[in-house]
Amino acid sequence: MHILVTGADGRVGRALARAALPQGATLTALGRQQLDITDPQAVDRLLTLHACSVVVNTAAFTAVDRAETETAAAMAINGEGPAHLARACAARGIPLIHLSTDYVFDGRSPEPYREDAPMAPLSVYGASKAAGEEAVRWLQPDHAILRVSWLYGGERGDFVRAMVGAIRAGRPLRVVDDQIGGLTHSDSVATAVLALADKMLRQSLERGTYHFAAGGAASWHEIAALILSELTRAGIGPVPLEATSAAAYGLPAARPANSLLDCGKFDRLVGAERPHWQDRLIPELRRILDEPVKPA
Ligand SMILES: NC(=O)c1ccc[n+]([C@@H]2O[C@H](COP(=O)([O-])OP(=O)(O)OC[C@H]3O[C@@H](n4cnc5c(N)ncnc54)[C@H](OP(=O)(O)O)[C@@H]3O)[C@@H](O)[C@H]2O)c1
Repeated sequence: MHILVTGADGRVGRALARAALPQGATLTALGRQQLDITDPQAVDRLLTLHACSVVVNTAAFTAVDRAETETAAAMAINGEGPAHLARACAARGIPLIHLSTDYVFDGRSPEPYREDAPMAPLSVYGASKAAGEEAVRWLQPDHAILRVSWLYGGERGDFVRAMVGAIRAGRPLRVVDDQIGGLTHSDSVATAVLALADKMLRQSLERGTYHFAAGGAASWHEIAALILSELTRAGIGPVPLEATSAAAYGLPAARPANSLLDCGKFDRLVGAERPHWQDRLIPELRRILDEPVKPA
């Protein structure tokens, strides 16, 4: 199996590049400089150049708030880019694994979202990701769409690193407590993608949409509270932690109140490990605390 990954410099792209591959598998990871997925000719050229058995699209416009004003860029990258990839994959008989998000839902359901729940995005980012999903479904039936949620991990900035940075700097925390989700490490997503690819290529996997998130559920405030207590235990902090509502916090893009994904189908059909968010976060915090502190 040879895997071609787009968006190689992103969080999931990097996690895939450092992941342990299934036996006999090889991987080529292309960053935006090597492959801009909004350029259909480049997509065609690169897929011809790199003979591969599966394409994994992690390239995306993920700045959720900026997407509210940079609508054209969000739609081009998240909506049209996947269409170019799907068309090129279909023409060559290459299966496509496409990453998507819980933000395609409106979050009003009292239950975790199943794969067949209607999409009803609240934001431009969510709408652009929904458009990308629809393009993949329409243009390349041999696909798996993997919706993931609340990602962190690696060296790029994320919620966890923002909390650690603030606590280290002695800044008080004000964190939203009316959105819940599954905080998921990018390394877990990489493992899930590779398991999915392996099963798809053995022809033993139903094509379609899958959900993948860490086990358990928590609000951003509960996650911040765990980070604060672990850092306090390590002698850093404490700092005050205040709960607030998403409305009072006032970010430009609306987010789902319920971001929980029902991962039952993934567990049944793919079965890769899905650690509980706390079990994955605590060792990650130790790893972050062991890194040399960069000067501010
Ligand atoms: N991050 C989350 O919390 C989250 C949650 C749920 C789902 N997801 C989904 O998971 C997937 C991976 O997300 P991630 O966290 O790895 O995102 P990320 O860290 O923002 O990485 C995305 C990568 O795609 C690149 N890119 C942007 N436009 C491109 C283009 N036209 N052609 C090629 N590459 C391009 C970006 O480059 P630049 O940095 O140069 O723009 C970046 O390196 C995405 O589908 C995302 O929607 C993410």
